[in-house]
Amino acid sequence: MESWPELVERAQGCVACRLAQGRHRVVFGAGNPKALLMLVGEAPGHDEDLAGEPFVGRAGELLTRILAAVALSRDDVFITNTVMCRPPNNRPPEPDEQQSCRPFLEAKLAAIEPKMVVTLGAVATKALLEDPHAAITRLRGSRHLRQGRYYYPTFHPAALLRDPEKKRPVWEDFKRIRRDYDRLQAGLELEPDA
Ligand code: URA
Repeated sequence: MESWPELVERAQGCVACRLAQGRHRVVFGAGNPKALLMLVGEAPGHDEDLAGEPFVGRAGELLTRILAAVALSRDDVFITNTVMCRPPNNRPPEPDEQQSCRPFLEAKLAAIEPKMVVTLGAVATKALLEDPHAAITRLRGSRHLRQGRYYYPTFHPAALLRDPEKKRPVWEDFKRIRRDYDRLQAGLELEPDA
């Protein structure tokens, strides 16, 4: 099986879709490759494209603070996106671009084996729940067991920057995520979904 450094190296050279043309850096993902919890955003933006790191701009700073509020650091978790290269003008990634990048996302999931995946915003939620009609406003706060892994849709931090009313629900979501994290880390079953 491909090692983690080999996977990273293969990703760095990827030209599987048109997004490769406009990128400065491939944003593979960052954090703990043995993380219990993985967070998946939409796509790298301007700052991430230059830094080669996910969530380093304003939305990223907010994400770091949200994690800190539940006593998690970026090094505890693994953070990535549905696609690894910045779409032009920060448009959402097209379905075929997401498809091209999907094997890398699957390879990260297979290597890290996180028990929990937080999907940040509509694009990541639709992609990971494999439901093009998934509505984030309806789904946030819920928990989905798929192939032995729990998925937690919540709002994207950029949405919180635009609409502070979303802060409270996201806080509720992360408190629940932290509770489940503690139980899974202790090898306990999760409490039934409310
Ligand atoms: N928004 C995302 O969805 N991902 C990033 O990495 C940064 C901003």
